[in-house]
Amino acid sequence: MKTKKHLILLPLAAALLALPACDDGPVGRAESGPTYSGFTAKLTGTVSGTGSWPEYYQVVLAGFDDTEYATAQATVSPDAAGRVSRTLPNLGSTVQTVELCVTNPLRRRIVSFRSVPVSELRGDTLYLDAGAVDAGMYATLQREVFDKRCAHCHGGAGTAAGGLDLTEGRSYAALVGQPSLSVPDSTRVLPGNAAASILHQILLPEEVLGLPVTHGDLLSSTERRLIDEWIDAGARE
Ligand code: HEC
Repeated sequence: MKTKKHLILLPLAAALLALPACDDGPVGRAESGPTYSGFTAKLTGTVSGTGSWPEYYQVVLAGFDDTEYATAQATVSPDAAGRVSRTLPNLGSTVQTVELCVTNPLRRRIVSFRSVPVSELRGDTLYLDAGAVDAGMYATLQREVFDKRCAHCHGGAGTAAGGLDLTEGRSYAALVGQPSLSVPDSTRVLPGNAAASILHQILLPEEVLGLPVTHGDLLSSTERRLIDEWIDAGARE
């Protein structure tokens, strides 16, 4: 028994002797052990409109690598005053940006409101101070679709193609429940019924209305789906 104990203890004693003395300089823990690269993201700000999205979508704080699918995400639920304070722990070393955004059930990024690169990491926390964000579904459609893809034709005062003004502050009243000027006896946006709405029909990739100006190649299927779901969910402002 005695011999066995010595056999085990001897290499241990040798290893202890081989350790550097304390005054050999700083011994960096990160250098000797496996490096832990996880970090925490912290979102603060005032976010409105999160409840206007259909259940399919979520307003989240999420980490992204170089794909459009979140590696991790946490739902953003503002308090009664709209204030948000949310942390997302254990983000891995592949994460490149942390974003306040909307994702679908596959965690695919649909739209991003704010983004902060991982290069702004301080210590083990990446802070995203979002300020005031209108994350509402209609506000998102206005900014991402109408402003960028439509308003140069469907602008205000006299320049509104087809008599339709899609600029901010005017688009909603021009669309929802309004009779179509291009297609007799139909409605531009019929709340709850995308299929019957001219806004849906005119944007389909295959022409169904036969109008002089084609709209079928203006939007991606994701954007069209967003519009359809907004209408089907009641077309709220
Ligand atoms: C190149 C200019 C142009 C762009 C860009 C454009 N439109 Fe149009 N749009 C027209 C014209 C012109 C009409 C009138 C009908 C026609 O001649 O085809 C029209 C008609 C419409 C109508 C039918 C209006 C009614 O009274 O029923 C809708 C809805 C519409 N556009 C939505 C959009 C949306 C949404 C976008 C952006 C994704 C868009 N348009 C981008 C030119 C444009």
